[in-house]
Parts: sequence; structure tokens; C-alpha cells
Amino acid sequence: MNYLDKIIRSATVENMAATNGVPNVQAFVNLYRAISARTIITGFVYVSENGRAMQPLQAGIVNQTQADAWANVRQALPDKQLIMQLAHVGRQTTRSGAVGASNIKCMYCKAPVRVLTKAEIEEIVQDFAEAALRAQKAGFDGVQIHAAHGYLIHQFLSPYTNNRTDEYKDRPLLLELVLKAVRAACPAPFIVWVKLSHGDDRGLTITDTLATVKRIETLCDGIEISYGTMEYALNIIRGAIPIDTAFEVNPLFNKYSPLIERLWKRFVFPFYKRRFKLFTPNYNVQAALEIKKQTSLPVFVTGGIRTQQDIDTILNSGIDKVSLCRPFIKEPDLLHKLTGNWKSGCVNCNLCTIYCDSAQSIRCHLGEKK
Ligand SMILES: Cc1cc2nc3c(=O)[nH]c(=O)nc-3n(C[C@H](O)[C@H](O)[C@H](O)COP(=O)(O)O)c2cc1C
Repeated sequence: MNYLDKIIRSATVENMAATNGVPNVQAFVNLYRAISARTIITGFVYVSENGRAMQPLQAGIVNQTQADAWANVRQALPDKQLIMQLAHVGRQTTRSGAVGASNIKCMYCKAPVRVLTKAEIEEIVQDFAEAALRAQKAGFDGVQIHAAHGYLIHQFLSPYTNNRTDEYKDRPLLLELVLKAVRAACPAPFIVWVKLSHGDDRGLTITDTLATVKRIETLCDGIEISYGTMEYALNIIRGAIPIDTAFEVNPLFNKYSPLIERLWKRFVFPFYKRRFKLFTPNYNVQAALEIKKQTSLPVFVTGGIRTQQDIDTILNSGIDKVSLCRPFIKEPDLLHKLTGNWKSGCVNCNLCTIYCDSAQSIRCHLGEKK
């Protein structure tokens, strides 16, 4: 098995930029150099100021200074295939001025949401195209359009957040326009991948996703299949729920008084807990296989893939690539360990996830706290 071709590093928030979104070149180079995968998808990079996430150290690609820093990252890593994940967070931010397909708030971020006008949507389409072109000029091999996890494009794909009455009630339209604009802006050869949630906790189903895939079949080079939105963020990744750590370091939780914390844990947490899905290995593979059967596009899958045996089985079943996130946080050199019986040391403690919403750079926190 040619694992270098088949195993990719799934997008992972790095929190390694300055507050103006300029990536810290040395930090990125060190991180990516240590990762044994050849193909690395960056953590989500913002395509416009109003598309920024709550993380203060998220990197951007909206101006030349940011693009120049990315070009330096690229130049230092000639052996890597670098794919920049482009995202607009829409309503999933705590920053003021959040926008969305509709005014329905995100239960997690809670910021008021203003409905995007048609003119603003057209601007966002252009923002994606310009960001992709900057990434291409910076030497990136391609981009991945983030249409999963409840971010803006997912908000248009979802029947829950898209209650529009204009032409965007056609839910895949925004993604289709973004892909057309990116293709028009970036001359070949330039890879364009898309990350999709095959379902979520608010009504998006695999039937919706299959319809979306059909719409974009000729507009991109591959799709990565994931699950969920930030409203139930732990359903994207699954595993432990380190709630004490969240109250300590996560800006959405650590603002509460000890009394509110106790009440929240007692009365609100059980409600959330019931909605959380258990971690089961390879939890998106079945959906990815169903999608694979119905498309000519290369299909990648992410989510809970933890053993070499499972990687082999997934790839032998027709999936084109597997993408790993937490295993690379735990063991960046894991590709060198695939000698037959590798099992990831990641136990899905999810401390990396809780810390990732703060201003701390990505690393494995296993064993530090509960
Ligand atoms: C700390 C952390 C940061 C993540 N950042 C991103 C991101 O920037 N973009 C994205 O699409 N997914 C992100 N994800 C989701 C992963 O790419 C991946 O889809 C998910 O973790 C399931 O894969 P795994 O079981 O191998 O971790 C993140 C996950 C974690 C744990």
C-alpha cells in the first residue's frame, strides 16, 4: 500500500498566526515538517474579515502580507503537497457582525446573526476565488473548500439554517458558485477539494449530501466526508467530553461564575450529553462508501480511523484516501510506524479540541487534565 499517497492530514486548527491573521512561518514549518504525511490540509483559513472564526490566532489569506508568509511556508517544505482549507465561518463565531444564510443563531457561539443579502453572497463567492488565487500564487498545490461542520457553506446546505426564499433556497447553489469562481480564478493544475458533512444533528441527511455531490461532480477533484456542525461539536469528532477543561480554558465557558458552572453542569450538560454520539471506530466510513457508490469523484473519509488494519480495509473497499487528524496530533511520525500492526495512541480524550477554541497552538494534551 502506498500510504504516502493514501493517508492525508485532515485540516486541523493550528492557532499559529498573529492576531492580524499572518501565519507564523517558523511555527507552521516546524509543525508540518514533523508530520509524516505528504499531503497536508491546513487548518481552516479565513477568506474575509467577516468570515473569521472565534480563534484569535486563526490564519487568513485575505491580503498580500498573509499570502507572502504562506509562500514562505510553502518554500520551506518542497516535498509536501500543501492544500489550504478555505473557510467562511458564517454564524459560527463569537465575533460581532456574524452573518448567515438566515438569522438562526448557533447554539454554541450564540452571537446574533444578520441575514446575508444577495450582493453580500456574491462578494463572498469572490472572496473564496481571490483567496484561492492567493493560495495558488503562494505555491499551494490546491485548496479545500470547507463546506462542512456548520460553517457558512454548510449553513446554506442545511434545511435548518437555510430558510431563504430567494434563489439560494436552492441549497447547493452557494457551493456551486464558489467552486465555479475558484475554478475560473485558478488555472490548472490546481487541486480543488471539498469537505462535506454527510449529515448533522439538525436535519441535514445523506440524501441532501448525495444531491450536493451530484451538483459539484464536475467542479472539483475530490470530496472529504465528515459529519456534523459546531452546535454539537463533539459529534464531529466524538470521544471524551472534557467539560472541566472547557470551563477552565474555553472562552465560551470560562466566563461563568462557579455557581453558574455548577448549575450548567447539573442541568444543561445532561441535555447536551444525551445528544452526543458515542465514539465508534471509522464512524463516517459507511456514509462515505454510500456516497462513493454514487459518484465518479474521488472520495476521502475522516473520523475515528485509528488502526493500520482499518486503514487497509477502508482503502481496499474503494475509498480513495483516508484523512487523519487527532492521530497526527498525537504521533506526527505515524506514517513511519505502519509496519503491519500500527494502532494510534490517540484515545480521543479531546483535550486538543477544547484547547483549540482558545488561543493555544495545537498540540496533544493527553494525560494533562480531565
Ligand atoms: C483540534 C482539532 C482541530 C480541527 N480543526 C479542523 C479544521 O480546521 N477544519 C476542519 O475541517 N476540520 C477540523 N477538525 C476536524 C478534523 O479534520 C477531522 O475531520 C476530525 O477530527 C475527525 O478525524 P479524527 O478522528 O482523525 O480526529 C479538527 C479536529 C480537531 C480535533
